[in-house]
Amino acid sequence: MKATNWIALAVASALSVPVCGADKLDIGKMEYDQSCATCHGLNGKGKGSFAEAMQFTVPDITTLAKRNGGVFPVTRVYNVIDGREEVTAHGSRAMPIWGTYLSVSAAPRYDDYAYNPEAAVRGRILSLIDYLYRLQAK
Ligand code: HEC
Repeated sequence: MKATNWIALAVASALSVPVCGADKLDIGKMEYDQSCATCHGLNGKGKGSFAEAMQFTVPDITTLAKRNGGVFPVTRVYNVIDGREEVTAHGSRAMPIWGTYLSVSAAPRYDDYAYNPEAAVRGRILSLIDYLYRLQAK
């Protein structure tokens, strides 16, 4: 192998080393902190900076299970986050419609390949749900 090839190989393998350990990567938390915490607060209790500034009431999402007889309402939470079906039925609402945003933002990741944005949306919503489940008050 030529020297330049060895250099290319060394660079490629250096780049493929994960930046942080796999056990520390929490996709649901990353997604939540980035998209939801401004309103719902980092701890889910509804005191995010944006919500405080806008002075609107954001529900405490650490009590979703408690308010539902101890059962975490997965389907309802899924539909609230996705929101695309709800919005046609009920018109506007304060909670953003994440399904549309996630679907559009999935496109660049797939570049020119044929892709199914719905699969990407589902994956991201499910990782958010997994995180919300872990935020539930005991
Ligand atoms: C712009 C502020 C805002 C952001 C950002 C936001 N939400 Fe909400 N969310 C609300 C409001 C306000 C409600 C109450 C329902 C309504 O008025 O539409 C709500 C309701 C909810 C509910 C239902 C709570 C209940 O008690 O039934 C869930 C679950 C939820 N949001 C999850 C999320 C997740 C997950 C994200 C991030 C992907 C997010 N929200 C981002 C404002 C926000």
